[in-house]
Amino acid sequence: MSAPHYMPLDARGWRLAMGLRPLDLANWLELDEHYDSELAQKAALLAQHRDVVVATEPEGDAGSRELLREVQDFLGRVHPEVATVVDGDEHPIVAASRLIQEDLCVLVKDDDWRLRAACVCFPSRWDLATKIGTTLDEIHGPVPHYDEVLARPTKSFFDRLRPERSFWRLNWTLLDSAALHQPRAARVAPSGELADWFFRVERQTLRQLPTTGAVVFTIRTYVTSAATLASADGEFVPALLHALEGASSDTQDYKGWTGVASRLREGLVAQ
Ligand code: HEM
Repeated sequence: MSAPHYMPLDARGWRLAMGLRPLDLANWLELDEHYDSELAQKAALLAQHRDVVVATEPEGDAGSRELLREVQDFLGRVHPEVATVVDGDEHPIVAASRLIQEDLCVLVKDDDWRLRAACVCFPSRWDLATKIGTTLDEIHGPVPHYDEVLARPTKSFFDRLRPERSFWRLNWTLLDSAALHQPRAARVAPSGELADWFFRVERQTLRQLPTTGAVVFTIRTYVTSAATLASADGEFVPALLHALEGASSDTQDYKGWTGVASRLREGLVAQ
């Protein structure tokens, strides 16, 4: 059970892009050696902070039920070694989320695509309660340049998504904490220097469910020490600097990157 290693830094520097790639559903969800500990963290968060990590509306119930069946079916076929028994009284998106390391979101189209059910235990500094019931444009309201660059292609991608063709994409950032649960919306820059930083990658998948037509968005979060990545790969720090310095100042503010590249350069000179 070891997960592939994702390195989303792009030699061309930072670009705001959809970056979608075709997904073979045999690889829909990923299980690794952190399975037991991440499921235990989810159980603790669901017990203590349910209002922070779960948000549902009745419009998302049918899609959530179908999602739970799909998750159980996937695990039964691809990972028969793990349990798929759930508490039938629990909301199906929560029951599904307790079986896997991914966070789960269900979007349903009426006037527009809206987030109707979610169980997100490991958010990267966003507040689920403010997003439930809202559209893709509203969800992405704080993202600089989303409206001019990504809003139209993302909406049209959702309209054209079909159950036979699924997709995945990566997002990344730098934080000064390895904690998976980061619900605070503040975009503060990481404190300290490379040795204190963590490279946080989200592997996101998008698929349409065949029966309800709801769209499922999964988010799997991988956190690695930046110092470990730097010592394993001489290209990591140059690519990171290239990305940090190439982002617009709005994006740097939004991602909490302002001043980070110069601190990284100072640290390298001091070595
Ligand atoms: C093709 C589909 C999508 C694209 C291209 C996309 C793109 C992006 C981008 C570029 C960001 C900025 C984050 C960063 O760079 O760190 C972002 C943030 C975010 N996305 Fe998406 N996204 C997609 C689908 C979704 C869906 C389906 C959800 C449903 C919950 C979602 C929820 C969010 C949230 C909550 C944020 C953080 C917003 C905040 O700061 O408040 N995204 N997305």
